Amino acid sequence: MRWFPKTAAMAVAATLCTVAVGCEADDTEAELEQRQDGQDDRFVSLGKADSNGVEDRSWAAACVLNVANQATLEQLDDDMSLWRTAAKNIVAARPYDTLEQLDDVDWVGWYAFRQMKGYGVEKGFCPGLNEEYVPADEAESTAAVVEASLEHVQGEWDEGQRPALRDAHPKAHGCVRAFFEVDNDALPADMRVGIFANDGKEHPAWIRFSNGSFTPSPDTEGDIRGMAIKLMEVPGAKILEKEKDAQTQDFLLINTPVLMVRNAYDYVEFSQKAFDGNPVSFFFGLNPLEWNFRELTITLKTLAKKIASPLQSRYWSTTPYKLGDAYSVKYSARPCEGESNKRPDGAGPDYLAEVMAEQLSAGDRCFEFMVQAQIDPETMPIEDPSLEWDAEKSPYLVAGRIHVPTQRFDSPAQTDFCEHLSFNPWHSLPEHAPLGGINRVRRSVYDAISALRHDLNERPRVEPVDHTVPGE
Ligand code: HEM
Repeated sequence: MRWFPKTAAMAVAATLCTVAVGCEADDTEAELEQRQDGQDDRFVSLGKADSNGVEDRSWAAACVLNVANQATLEQLDDDMSLWRTAAKNIVAARPYDTLEQLDDVDWVGWYAFRQMKGYGVEKGFCPGLNEEYVPADEAESTAAVVEASLEHVQGEWDEGQRPALRDAHPKAHGCVRAFFEVDNDALPADMRVGIFANDGKEHPAWIRFSNGSFTPSPDTEGDIRGMAIKLMEVPGAKILEKEKDAQTQDFLLINTPVLMVRNAYDYVEFSQKAFDGNPVSFFFGLNPLEWNFRELTITLKTLAKKIASPLQSRYWSTTPYKLGDAYSVKYSARPCEGESNKRPDGAGPDYLAEVMAEQLSAGDRCFEFMVQAQIDPETMPIEDPSLEWDAEKSPYLVAGRIHVPTQRFDSPAQTDFCEHLSFNPWHSLPEHAPLGGINRVRRSVYDAISALRHDLNERPRVEPVDHTVPGE
């Protein structure tokens, strides 16, 4: 269901549409009677069934569904020049939750999809800035992700894994003490909200650096690297009821600007195929029109990425967050000293923790914490973190600085403390609420997994209030 490999099929369909059928709206009743469903089948064979180049669950899909659900018969018939029968059928079969339902309507084909999308864009039927659009199957996908994650953690426990680890990012390189200093000079006034309202405020923070892979693996292997930041001394009610009164705020970042999946549905597909030992089938299914080239490129790039040290890598949120009422933003943390991708000579399986220990025994380190605003809902969508928001169009603005002072972070007590912390994108002030489908899935998953591993490990879930490590 992708734009780019479909081009050829769409061209053929367009030709047939004009030559054999004549895609005009002024068809008479008599003409219509002659054209029965057989014509519709022709679209099916040309890709009608996969929505004619509009990706399921995408911004364009939301445009088409909004038009199909809301446009008047006259708009469909006259303004969009659809077949009168198609327009009537669309109105009669409302409402539509999915493109597939719309696709099933008689006389609705490639041409109708294209017209509806164009009209939606032109006449304001599409989601605007900061607007989420929830696919109909998201609850089902979310339940599947939660179930699979719980099964994985429980399964490892049943096989003797002690302690129960995080389902994702189980391998830590260490939790370091840090300070997050708000610097809102570069932010416009209406971005100075939440954390960023208090210029100069220095929040003590914990940062956990990790490998992403589901099983702890040698650092020499390609992987996503995580940077989970927990600010302390953050007053104000938090989004999650259970943690409403905690004085902490989390930001979760990884070392790639884009995610290899677009939405909850794709996440389920990808994880199931990976779990069955055949992740490649996620990228190359039986139908070449559905090959996931973008996802493949992101995966290969991510896995090929080497880092010299967790402190010399840049990190991104990949998914968007509210910034007050006016903005949606993505976050990025960039090392002040610049990035380095040079893996040290003789790097061993745990070299990331070792390099970080060496660097933090020799001096302080820092990161700039930045926000990037969404300025175009189509090319910078809320719902698809596999698309990078163009930093030339909307540059990242510095919103704070993270200081990591010289320290030792690898005592047994601190390692244990780190293991039992929880980071969650929803552990947040409402001013920084997570947005988009992947974040909505995370609302259920993180809490469920953190609760399970704390239960299994018989450890309470506690939010830290300062830099003290219990037992040290
Ligand atoms: C559907 C998508 C995702 C799922 C299902 C998922 C799942 C999880 C789970 C279950 C954990 C462990 C939570 C715990 O036990 O406390 C975790 C940790 C983490 N996730 Fe995700 N994740 C997703 C997307 C993302 C994205 C988009 C990011 C991007 C920034 C991210 C970054 C992290 C990081 C950095 C950690 C480690 C947190 C720590 O250090 O404790 N995840 N994820």
